[in-house]
Amino acid sequence: PTDSFEAYRLPEEHEAVREAVRAVCDAKVAPNAAEADETSEFPKASYEALRSSDFHAPHIPEEYGGAGADALATAIVIEEVARACASSSLIPAVNKLGTMPLLLSGSEELKRKYLPPVASGEAMFSYCLSEPEAGSDAASMTTRAVRDGDHWVLDGVKRWITNAGVSRYYTVFAVTEPGVGAKGISAFVVEKSDAGVSFGAPEKKLGIKGSPTREVYLDGVRIPADRIIGEPGTGFATAMRTLDHTRVTIAAQALGIAQGALDFSAKYVTERTQFGKAVADFQGVQFMLADMAMKLEAARQLTYAAAARSERGDADLTFFGAAAKCYASDAAMEITTDAVQLLGGYGYTRDFPVERMMRDAKITQIYEGTNQVQRIVMARQLLKAFR
Ligand code: CAA
Repeated sequence: PTDSFEAYRLPEEHEAVREAVRAVCDAKVAPNAAEADETSEFPKASYEALRSSDFHAPHIPEEYGGAGADALATAIVIEEVARACASSSLIPAVNKLGTMPLLLSGSEELKRKYLPPVASGEAMFSYCLSEPEAGSDAASMTTRAVRDGDHWVLDGVKRWITNAGVSRYYTVFAVTEPGVGAKGISAFVVEKSDAGVSFGAPEKKLGIKGSPTREVYLDGVRIPADRIIGEPGTGFATAMRTLDHTRVTIAAQALGIAQGALDFSAKYVTERTQFGKAVADFQGVQFMLADMAMKLEAARQLTYAAAARSERGDADLTFFGAAAKCYASDAAMEITTDAVQLLGGYGYTRDFPVERMMRDAKITQIYEGTNQVQRIVMARQLLKAFR
């Protein structure tokens, strides 16, 4: 029985990771969060702080020069960065998203070429799946890759690409065999410097403003044939397997945003006085805080359980990744909205960080698959057992 009780405690080394990343983020990331939001500029100082402490892409295995953090430690890093600045948490999160197709299905040569620069912080890696007319229905993409001798030639438009422009490398999904749906899609590594690659204007967004979201244009982009990730036709499965793992990281991001809002609002109500006593002394306020903390903890347990499945590559990761992302992001939206409520009029202003956290939380219900898509994924997994 001792062992199974131990399983419900975070290992000491993971607690140590949390402490280390929180210290860096409190000192060097949180102070830039409001400015990144206000100016919509990529927070370079936060990137440098994460890079110099090896938290910018912690999941890269040691054999490729990385820190070799497991899925749970990576989730904790993303959670803690998000607690300080949601935009900055997209640095480790999108580096994982962009490189996961390579890690899952790439050739050894591709991994050796493209992972070390990400590990060192010299380059970032983005993921290009969605298109203007192919969002939830990702398999309906129209970006084409045509084989031409020793090359592939890519043409199309990718939309909603996180960190586009600041990333040096891009995993691009494209149709190599039209007419056969998901089975005709392949994955490629494209470099920012490849001729024919360009970017749209940064989207004007509600939140995560310090992380650029742009279209990526591929205009006759000619790349060496060996830049394909895996066999032709396996790209869609690679895209979905990637998301199984990285939905856990979005859940972690949601946890961090929610924790930041809970921490700030709980402290605020102990300091704010109305009707002659601290606002925290009103039971109605206490009930709100208790609900916020309870939902957050439930979301955290589910997220860490999903991270353990991601690390082991369990068959039920597809369900758990979707469930964690869906549950944690819904919880984050509720918790951050309540945090604004606890601050009253002050919460609605930019003089306090909770309105930013509420705006940042919203995207976690949308990207890496809307929460409606997560429910489709969960239901399909659930029903498999009964059909
Ligand atoms: N693992 C392995 N293979 C998988 C898989 C998984 N989790 N999910 C699907 N596949 C395989 C299937 O097995 C199937 O192959 P078979 O026919 O051989 O079985 C093939 O892929 C097609 O699968 P489906 O029939 O399930 O495909 P679908 O068209 O019905 O789509 C979907 C399913 C779940 C709705 C999927 O399209 C989806 O997840 N949509 C949301 C897309 C998404 O999350 N986009 C986010 C973009 S990334 C982002 O947001 C980041 C950013 O930078 C902002």
